[in-house]
Amino acid sequence: MTIEPKAFRDAMSRFASAVHIVTTDGKAGRRGVTATAVVGVSDDPATLLVCLNAASPQNHFFGENGNLGINVLAAETGQKVAQVFAGSSGDKASDRFANGEWGVGETGAPLLADALVAFDCRIVEARRVATHHVLLAEVVGLRLGPDAPPLLYHARGYRLL
Ligand SMILES: Cc1cc2nc3c(=O)[nH]c(=O)nc-3n(C[C@H](O)[C@H](O)[C@H](O)COP(=O)(O)O)c2cc1C
Repeated sequence: MTIEPKAFRDAMSRFASAVHIVTTDGKAGRRGVTATAVVGVSDDPATLLVCLNAASPQNHFFGENGNLGINVLAAETGQKVAQVFAGSSGDKASDRFANGEWGVGETGAPLLADALVAFDCRIVEARRVATHHVLLAEVVGLRLGPDAPPLLYHARGYRLL
């Protein structure tokens, strides 16, 4: 049996997910995207996995730069930033970083000052799976932010815990 893409997306809307801004910077250019498809893989070495839609041409920047920032958003401050980095505010992709206070990690990846936690990562493997780039990234630095409630996404809307 083949599952229709819409049926799959409807099923996925039942997931409650944390919301992240995943970022990169380097020779290919600077890029930040709102993403829920982020998961921990291993603690030794500390490794995370991120899935990015290959239909966005600028998502190639991640693999080309080789670095990846993963910024976990707080409920209080995250929603506006999430909307901007999802492209729903009408801002040009290059202007997204005017929202929020951004620093830079050792790898060169942009890190958000008020993230609940910001991971500075190097991409160690990239694989195309169907419509998405699947990136495996080793964490080389992490910055813990406030111990505050996270921003969530569920049933196609932002939710507060
Ligand atoms: C809550 C939420 C979660 C998202 N999760 C992902 C994701 O995990 N991977 C992805 O590639 N895009 C995800 N997107 C879509 C991207 O944020 C969006 O397509 C992208 O920022 C558009 O940028 P572009 O117009 O520059 O391509 C998500 C969007 C929202 C609103």
